[in-house]
Amino acid sequence: MNGERYAQITGWGMAVPEKVLTNADLARVVDTSDEWILSRTGIRERHIVASEKESTATLALRTARAALLVADVAPTQLDLVIVATATPEYAFPSTASLVQDALGAANAGAFDLSAGCSGFIYALSLASNVIRGGGAEHVLVIGAETLSRITDWTDRNTCVLFGDGAGAVVVSARPERCGVLASVLGSDGSGGDLLILPAGGSHAPASHETISNGGHFVKMNGREVFRFATTVIPKATEAVIQKAGWVLTDLALVIPHQANNRIIESAARRLNLPLDRFFINLDRYGNTSSASIPIALCEAIAEGRVKAGDRLVLVGFGAGLTWAAAAVEWGVPVPVKPQPWPRRWLALLRFGLAAVRSLWLRGGRRVYNWLLGPVGKDDWRGKLRQWMGRWWKK
Ligand code: ACO
Repeated sequence: MNGERYAQITGWGMAVPEKVLTNADLARVVDTSDEWILSRTGIRERHIVASEKESTATLALRTARAALLVADVAPTQLDLVIVATATPEYAFPSTASLVQDALGAANAGAFDLSAGCSGFIYALSLASNVIRGGGAEHVLVIGAETLSRITDWTDRNTCVLFGDGAGAVVVSARPERCGVLASVLGSDGSGGDLLILPAGGSHAPASHETISNGGHFVKMNGREVFRFATTVIPKATEAVIQKAGWVLTDLALVIPHQANNRIIESAARRLNLPLDRFFINLDRYGNTSSASIPIALCEAIAEGRVKAGDRLVLVGFGAGLTWAAAAVEWGVPVPVKPQPWPRRWLALLRFGLAAVRSLWLRGGRRVYNWLLGPVGKDDWRGKLRQWMGRWWKK
């Protein structure tokens, strides 16, 4: 590819757990009501993982496969897998590496990115800059969360807000001017304590004490985060459209982080944009942190709110404190023409083969260790190796 390179979103997908938790369900376990939650936040229900088989990685994998199918990109074509998450599968290995393995993305680097609810846009910005700089052709960007696993279900200040889910996009190099044209990233760590998971890191490793004082659950100063969000969304939106060389009236749609209706309404007022220019689906999912923007993008596309040539702003804020915005000129015609079935079948077969590949690699490592790993002096494998060594020298 010669000349300018741009970073276009060519595939997208979302996944949420099946189990739905309504406001009425929550009112049975904490002192709250459907009326309070709906009027203060706009949330009616959220999806949460219901079994140990579901986790951040399984949601991320489902959404990754969906996005690759839309983009018609094979896992082996990926150069990078980035998972933005505040609820990774483990501290390490990264959730991104688990997804890379399960996808069979054998040529991709993989890492997790931690920037709270702004994480997806941080990752999108990074992906587009790597692509535009010539460092990658296809990058998979995922926002995935299981916030229910770090929610204190006895704390009405937080438990009514969050939901689980994942969303992903494939970002690909394109010669025509489109895709992610500008981004802004920001952070104010002085507000780190306003939204925090206090224990489980190097500051306060897991102990009886951290468990008994609820240190492994989200703690939030809702009012302060609210105030921060209402100023930062308009600020970041204005900054990114200026960077892209656009004006506010160019915008077809703003896809904000889905935390609270009142935050979005305030941003619309401050930007002097009609509320229907903002995509809102938090009533059905609650705040899914770094997954909220890609999930909203997928639903906006499915509802026909995004078409080729549209100018969009994706804007988020969250723990850190952080904020981020991306200016995206949509380039892919939607709805996307479905792939012919042989190609689709091939793609599904590849997903199946990825599982076989992973088992093969794990099994191979075990056999290698069993045959050539450290063994005791009297173990027959040690004797066999000595005998083979002597035989070899002859
Ligand atoms: N049900 C009933 N009453 C409640 C509930 C509840 N679920 N939660 C709080 N209240 C009570 C409070 O105890 C308080 O009572 P008091 O006045 O007797 O003390 C009263 O309602 C008002 O509380 P406020 O905190 O002032 O309520 P507010 O209108 O600010 O709404 C909310 C609270 C929804 C949390 C709001 O502040 C908010 O949305 N903040 C931003 C949250 C956010 O965006 N977080 C981003 C997280 S991003 C991430 O990284 C995960």
